[in-house]
Order: sequence, then C-alpha cells, then structure tokens
Amino acid sequence: MATDYTWVDIRNIKEHLDKNIIIKGWLQNRRDGKGIVFAIIRDGSGMVQCVGTEEILGEANFNQLKKLGLESSIIFKGKANADERQMGGVEVQIESIEIVSEAIDYPIGKKEHGVDFLINRRHLWLRSQRQWAIMKVRNSIIFNIHNFFQEKGFVQMDAPIFTGNACEGTSTLFETNYFEETAYLSQSGQLYGEAMAMAMGKIYTFGPVFRAEKSKTRRHLSEFWMIEPEMAWYNLEMTMDLIEDFLRYVVLKTIDECRFELVEVLKRDLTKLEWVKNKFIRLPYSEAVQIIKGFKDVNGNNSIKLLESQLEAVENRIKEINEDIAKRESDLKAGGMKKGAITFNEEKIRQLKVELADLEEEQRNIPVWLNSAKTFVDGNDFGGSDETVLTNLFEGPVMVYNWPKEVKAFYMKEADDAKGFVCGVDVLAPEGYGEIVGGGERETDINRLIEQIHKHELPMEEFEWYLDLRKYGSVPHSGFGLGLERMVSWICKLPHVREAIPFPRYMGRLLP
Ligand code: 4AD
Ligand code: MG
Repeated sequence: MATDYTWVDIRNIKEHLDKNIIIKGWLQNRRDGKGIVFAIIRDGSGMVQCVGTEEILGEANFNQLKKLGLESSIIFKGKANADERQMGGVEVQIESIEIVSEAIDYPIGKKEHGVDFLINRRHLWLRSQRQWAIMKVRNSIIFNIHNFFQEKGFVQMDAPIFTGNACEGTSTLFETNYFEETAYLSQSGQLYGEAMAMAMGKIYTFGPVFRAEKSKTRRHLSEFWMIEPEMAWYNLEMTMDLIEDFLRYVVLKTIDECRFELVEVLKRDLTKLEWVKNKFIRLPYSEAVQIIKGFKDVNGNNSIKLLESQLEAVENRIKEINEDIAKRESDLKAGGMKKGAITFNEEKIRQLKVELADLEEEQRNIPVWLNSAKTFVDGNDFGGSDETVLTNLFEGPVMVYNWPKEVKAFYMKEADDAKGFVCGVDVLAPEGYGEIVGGGERETDINRLIEQIHKHELPMEEFEWYLDLRKYGSVPHSGFGLGLERMVSWICKLPHVREAIPFPRYMGRLLP
C-alpha cells in the first residue's frame, strides 16, 4: 500500500511529528555541506529547516537541490522530527523533492539594500521576513478592529468611493471622470456614515480613502485605509471614552497575538505599547498649546528644556561614537589583528554607523522642533513637529480636544461653552508617531452647517442630501476615523508608513 502524505501548513507542523508530510513553499535560504543540504522553506504560514542528503535523494535530485536558486518554488515530501535546536523546534527530513519553478538570480539578496531598491521591488520585498511580520500585525489589527466593534453591536457598512462632494476640504481631492461627470475619490466615508448611523444607530465603515496630499512625509499616503465608526446619541466625551477603549483593546490584543512578529522579528519594545493599559491623557487644545510653547510643564518637564537636554545628549553621543569609530578604524589599519577581532571590529563599526545615522537625524530634527515650539501661534493647526514636541512629554497617546473652529472641517460641532472652538478630538500616538485618530461631535444645527458650507466654499447642491439628515429626525451624533497604516506604523515602530501597506501609494509612487 502506498504511504499517505498530508500537506501541512508549516505553522502547524508540530502537530505532525513523525508523520509523512508534504510541504509546499519557497526556498528562503540554503546551506550545504558534504552530501547534505539544509534548506529553509517558507510557505507564508511559517518557516522550517529541511534536510536533504545525497543518500536519500539520490545524486541527480541532490545536485539539483544543491544549486537551486533562492525563491524557487518546491514541494517536499518527508518526515517532521522534533529538534529543539531548530526554529519552531522541528526539522524535516526530506524524502523526495519536486521543483515546481526554478528561480534564477533572485534580485533581493541577504546584503542590505537601499529603500528605493526595495520599494521598486515591493512585489518581491513582501516575501522578506520583516515585511511578512508587518503584514501579520496589520492582519491582526484589522481583525481586532472588527471584533471590537462587532462585540459592541456596531454594524459594518460601506461608503461609496466615487463621490460628488468633499468631506475633508477641497484641496486634497482626486478628480475622476464619472460618465462625463466630475467625481472625486472619497477622502472619508464619514458623511455617508452619518446617514447610516441615523438608520442603524451605531455603524462603522472600513475602506480605502484617497487624499491628493502633496506632502512627502513618513506619515502620508495618497491611498490609505480608514476605520470610521459613527454613533447616534454620542457626544464628544462619550466618543473619547470609546476611542480610548478601542485603542487599548486593539493594541493589547494585537501584541498578544503577534508576540513573535513584534518581538523576535521587528524587535519592538512591548512595554512601550503596554502603556495603553493606563488612563489616556486628555488635553484641551489651549492647554496643549501652553505645553508646546513651554509656558506650562508636565510632571516637572518643560517642552523646550527637555528638547534642549535631548539635543545635548544626542551631540555628546555623536562625539563619543565618532571617537570610537576612529579608534577602531586606526586599530584595524595598524594591522596585526586576529581574524576574529577584525570581523568583530568591522561589525561593531557597522553598528555604530547605523546608530550614528539615527542620531544625526535627531540632531537635524530637534532644532526644527524647538523652533516650531517657540514660534507656534495659538489658534493654528498642529504640524508634525508640534505633535512631536507635545507627545515627547508623555509616554502614551494624548487626546487633544476642543480645537479652534478655523482649522477643522466644516461639519464639526461648535462647543456650547466655548465660542470659536469645536468639539473635535485628535489622538496623537507617542514615540513621534503623531496623529492616528481624528474625530468628534457633528454639528446638528442646520443653519450653522449651511453657514459653514458657504464659508468653506463647498458646493451647496452636493450637500442637500446631507442637510436632510438635520431636517428629518436629527440627533446628537459623533464619530472618528483611525488611519490603519498610521496604527500599523506605530505598533510596529516603522520608520515610514509605506511599509505598513502591501502596495503603498504616495506622491511619485504608482508601481508596482
Ligand atoms: O483627521 P482626518 O482627516 O479625519 C477624517 O477624515 C474624519 N472624517 C474622520 C471621522 O471623523 N470619521 O483623518 C483621520 C485619520 C487621521 O487621524 C490619520 O490617522 C489618517 O486618517 N490619515 C492619513 N493616513 C495616511 N496618510 C494620510 N495622508 C492621512 N491623512 C489622514
Ligand atoms: Mg486630522
């Protein structure tokens, strides 16, 4: 009788010890010795080391495996053996191989590549372990977002992408031709979310949105995914409570589910994220401004003095590193060093240079932040620098509410007790990530809304349907939007949002 082999996912391989298994995947790495090959196989669910010997495979197959190019696709039949020394505690003894498609000269090697090189090959870069880990975290975040809202009885509904009106201002609209009519790609599902909340009570949309922002920063994409809950009968305070519960839930669940990806692969310090167990800081805009400008301290820390001392520390460390590198380089040059010591020193110099590059970036940034803190004009919107200066003083997310009306969207409700201010809230993530959530209470007074639509020079006829919501059973309501890629960037501590989405779109990037 023929032996039965079962196709298994590598992540489940431990459940199949000592059984005949089939693995289908790609050759991630290979090492060979005399009569033996160690092949690391990746199938998307995990990685495992597989061992092939000339004795079992026969000369022809063995030689084929021995010269097989990285990223070739293969099917192995064999047996999974427990081996605690190997990753995942398993090693596969290969009994037969089938090469499905041979890859020759895979362009992404083990050596370090520049980010431009990699982003141009995003379709292949996604196969690397770091990108795999980020995508797993993204998946977990998405799943937990749905879980949170579903558990709370929110209904997921979808907003259209072709729209006739602007939600977040006319300056960042992508225009398209819609059967000879002008249409825009949606910047936010919110206005439709408001209509849906009047039908269903509590809803959320989760879809792609588009912004023609001409800013090439590490926080901006031109296509990104947004989660937008909208709740009938909620006010600003209830919304802030919901945001806080929501972020806490998603962060804690995700770090629990993705411990391997975050800690082992991405080297993320989880204690920083676990801070979300604490009560979030909430500041009215006016107080936040006082703090940014250094007129008010936080727990004995002053924004300006803190930045100045951080700059001094950075400069001292730069000096120290430069001296260290110079010393090691001159020792290497002098010769007479053992091979092990040479490799050690070369590696150390490489590490120091990586640290140096980060410090030099801070050395350039801190004076910019200092300047923007000192010159910040009360009443203005926050820029990236202002967010950094403020969050620098806190370990966790900061919620800034009651914003000046002038800097926010037309639909924001004017505060009853503070004229000229609106019931909006932004959540700023720590560690320099800045705004991840924007939201607040919506204006219900139809006359104020009409006034705002005029003031923002928006076409009234496109908003008639929206004004209907204020005519027929208008209720207080509120909502917010979380930018998915900003959340992924913060949780994974990515240097740029472009790594937070499979195929990023930002100014100048349409391929692959
Ligand atoms: O603050 P924003 O513009 O708010 C809205 O769109 C509201 N209509 C949301 C609502 O109340 N329903 O955007 C919300 C979030 C930001 O906080 C940020 O996380 C993200 O969307 N975001 C971007 N992410 C990546 N690239 C960009 N260009 C982004 N612009 C905003
Ligand atoms: Mg915003």
